[in-house]
This record gives sequence, structure tokens and C-alpha cells, in this order.
Amino acid sequence: MDIEAALEEISRAPNLDSLQSLKVQYLGKNGQVTQAMKTLGQLPPEERKEKGRVLNAWKQALEEALEVREAQLKEQALQARLEQEALDVSLPGYAFPSGGLHITSRIVLELVNIFRRLGFSVVEGPEVESEFFNFDALNMPEWHPARDMQDTFWVELNRATEEAFTIQGPFAEDVSGLGGAVLRTHTSGMQIRYMIQHTPPFKIVVPGRVFRYEQTDASHEAMFHQLEGLVVGPNITMADLKGAISELARGLFGKEGKARFQPTFFPFVEPGVQFAMWWPERQKWLELGGAGMVHPYLFKAVDDYRERQGLPRVYEGMTGWAFGMGVERLALLRYGIPDIRYFYQNRLSFLRQFRG
Ligand code: PHE
Repeated sequence: MDIEAALEEISRAPNLDSLQSLKVQYLGKNGQVTQAMKTLGQLPPEERKEKGRVLNAWKQALEEALEVREAQLKEQALQARLEQEALDVSLPGYAFPSGGLHITSRIVLELVNIFRRLGFSVVEGPEVESEFFNFDALNMPEWHPARDMQDTFWVELNRATEEAFTIQGPFAEDVSGLGGAVLRTHTSGMQIRYMIQHTPPFKIVVPGRVFRYEQTDASHEAMFHQLEGLVVGPNITMADLKGAISELARGLFGKEGKARFQPTFFPFVEPGVQFAMWWPERQKWLELGGAGMVHPYLFKAVDDYRERQGLPRVYEGMTGWAFGMGVERLALLRYGIPDIRYFYQNRLSFLRQFRG
């Protein structure tokens, strides 16, 4: 056996497989060196010693060579893999497509946050509402034109919808005797719901979806959003209302923002106003909503209801103000959006413009 040639061959083994077969060839059970060692016993003692030493030296040399080559081959394989899988950590990452808040949600949050800073609580109410909360208790009796089939979606009650407009808390069971069910035409019904369950003073805002039975066009949708506000306490005045709406104007339009109030009629406020806000950038007034002092009829309706539930009357001697404004309307005006239907078509080309 030519040991030099064997060592040479090992040092050139092209890969781990061929290295393994070389190992078997020399040092395996039937390998050349192993076999030679087995025949040692048949040699005369002097020869045996000499031959034994040589074979041991070969074996050791072969083992070393195999180990060295194996380490080299493994290192090469590692380098090759590293090169192939090279990761440039300085490359910019892939931007995964991400969603964002809908423009309506953004406006609602903006509005609500302004009122939060003024100490208002944010509450929400059901979209399926009883006739009583949506109309009667708001001083809009049966003959009121707003209850016309033209304006209101009436809902046939079944178990599911009954649950949907069940009032939370102590009145949970009391949905009978409150008239039919409607998709709320405004968020003002929450004025009543909230007053029934709370003792003044309080300040709340109520964002929510409302529904009108309407032919849709660029400026009319059957569904849109409102923000309702209600403040009730012992000495609440019209000046407080003007202050809050003016603060809202500054919150929305900056230091030069201001509000304007003009008399108008809503059955549930007296006096009633409509308000507009000054948009400094465009130098124009934006008509945004209605407001006014809570009509005494509401306090009486709420106290009567409470009394029927065995609760104390707590609204005598109280005053309050309320407002309601259109959320999409604010967005339409402020961003110059030409068609309210864009809000619900969910076209990405529209929505992406308001990702902020
Ligand atoms: N609910 C009225 C509307 O839908 C707005 C409003 C709310 C007016 C509160 C006065 C007070 O137009």
C-alpha cells in the first residue's frame, strides 16, 4: 500500500461522500490497514513489531488526514451556503401592504378627541331604536313629519332586533310599550337613553351611524354618521353651548376657527340653532349641524319614564344643551369630496387618499 498516495488522495477528496468511501477503503472493517493489522499475528515477532509500528503510524496519519479534509470540506460547504444565502441587512425591508382607518373613522376620532380634552365621556347606542327613543321622547309625536315613511326605515321586530335595541342596564327587559322599531334617523335618541340611566351633571358625546329612507345622490346617502353632544347640569346655559362649539371650531380649524349660530327649529331644543364654522384657509362658513337648549319636554319625559321604573326624578331644575352634526358632511366640505357615495363604495383609489 502506498501511504503517500493514500494521503494525497484524501487531501484531494472532492466531497464528503468520496471522503467517506476513502475512510472505508483504508480504515473500515475490511479496509486495507485494518486487514493488514489483522495479519500481524501471523508474522514472526521481530517483523511484527516493526510492521505494527508502521501500520499504527499509517493509521494515525490516515485518521489525521481524514479529519483535516473533513473539516476543510465542511468549511467549504458552509462558505458556499453563506454565499448563496447572503442577506444584505442594509437593504430596505419589504413594505407589507397595510390597511388604515376609514376616513369616517378618522373624522369621528378627531371630533371625539377634541371633546375628550374638554372632559366629555364617549358613549354609543344601538342602531335599531325604538320609536319612543328616536321620536316620542324627543317631542316628536306621532303626527310629526319626520316620522313620515319617506324618512324612516321601519324594522319588523323579531328576536334578534329586539335584542339589538334592548336598553342596557336596569331597563334591559323593558322594550314593550315603546312603539315600533326603526333604524335610528339621528343619534338624538341617545340623549333620552343616557338621561334615563344617569343622574346629572354629565357631559357626553355619541358618535354613530344613522339611517334615512332616501333616494341616494351626490349629497344624500341612506346611511351616514352623526356626532351627538349632550351636557346637563344645574346651571348650564346657551353660553356654554357656544363655548363648546367654538372650542370644537378651534380644534378643527386652528386658532382662527370660530362658530356662528342662527336660530332654527328642532322639536327637542328650545331655543334651537344651526351652527356653522369658519374655515380660515378658505375664508368660508361651513354649515355643520344643529343645537340648542334641551327642551323641558325631554326632562319631563325622562323623569316620567324613570318614575315608572321606580327611580327618583332627577331632572327638575336642570338645564342642558345638545348638538348634532354630520360626520361625512364635515369631511365632504373640508376635503372637497364631490360625492357622499364615495364613502361607502370602498374604492381603494378614494380611501387611500385619506390614509394619513
Ligand atoms: N338630531 C338633529 C338632526 O339629526 C340634530 C340636532 C341634535 C339638533 C341635537 C339639535 C340638537 O338633524
